[in-house]
Amino acid sequence: MSQNTSGIPRNIAMTSIPSLAFLNGQFLPMAEARISVLDRGFLFADGIYEVVAVVRGVLVDCPGHLARLQRSLREIRITPPISLDELPTLMRELIAREQLDEGLVYLQCTRGAHPQRAFHFPDPAQTTPTFVMFAQRGQLLHNPLAETGVKVITLPDIRWRRRDIKSTALLASVLGKQAATEAGAFEAWMVEDGYVTEGTSSTACIITADDVLITRPLSQDVLDSITRRAVFRLAREAGLPVSQRAFTPQEAYAAREAFTASATALIMPIVDIDGHRIGDGTPGPRTRWLRQRYLQLACSENPEIAEPS
Ligand code: PDD
Repeated sequence: MSQNTSGIPRNIAMTSIPSLAFLNGQFLPMAEARISVLDRGFLFADGIYEVVAVVRGVLVDCPGHLARLQRSLREIRITPPISLDELPTLMRELIAREQLDEGLVYLQCTRGAHPQRAFHFPDPAQTTPTFVMFAQRGQLLHNPLAETGVKVITLPDIRWRRRDIKSTALLASVLGKQAATEAGAFEAWMVEDGYVTEGTSSTACIITADDVLITRPLSQDVLDSITRRAVFRLAREAGLPVSQRAFTPQEAYAAREAFTASATALIMPIVDIDGHRIGDGTPGPRTRWLRQRYLQLACSENPEIAEPS
């Protein structure tokens, strides 16, 4: 896996740190953006988030990500302190202020800070949810990892049971990604009851020897990935049949091709799973095509690639 100068492994090649945060209605220098120690996002991970890719200064599949943000908020009963309709304009302002050409916009909303630490919801009259956004530069179009392909390991899925909510409670994913990093891998695919659920921060896809794209169906077991929905559109265009079903690590080892799908790595070819070489050990032609086509559409004026849910 590629490393930056500080030795920190990177999934998305960072070229600078964000200089601005949009916090509770204001654009602030990052160093001046402060959140209370009592914020429930900090104390309980009582919040949700979104990540939207930016290519050539344009947000990719923004409506899908914002619809999922709204759903996550509804599921955990947070009323955002900002109208979600305003978000695309604010996100574009953030991109412009940061002069961001390629990278991502991160959004997070927590239940806010209450003077007393207590598990149950605080009185909404006394607590304003916290909403924060920042932008992060990164190489999406020319990610060198996409040229070589990446390694994946499998691990038990130890997460909670509402993975359809994009919760900031990500400790299991943090530990999984760290285990992958220590194993020289890019991602960990998590396994439950003998079947792959998803990656720590991506959707897991394989293409079988008889050319069927397989990925797990949606349920509370996995996130409704926006990139996954884009993959469906691209597969249809390519005439590649899709089967939404769970698959085992053994099926993945025998796959012709495999890839992860996410806003941060887009469509990332996998060449090794748990030490099993996938295909001939280089990114496969179907995955290459899917990535190229995705990037082509992402560079269009209005990159709405995902199929509606
Ligand atoms: N993660 N599954 C999980 C568990 C994820 O965290 C993600 C995204 C995905 C892919 O979703 P999408 O295609 O909408 O990005 C699947 C983001 C990128 C993150 O946490 O940084």
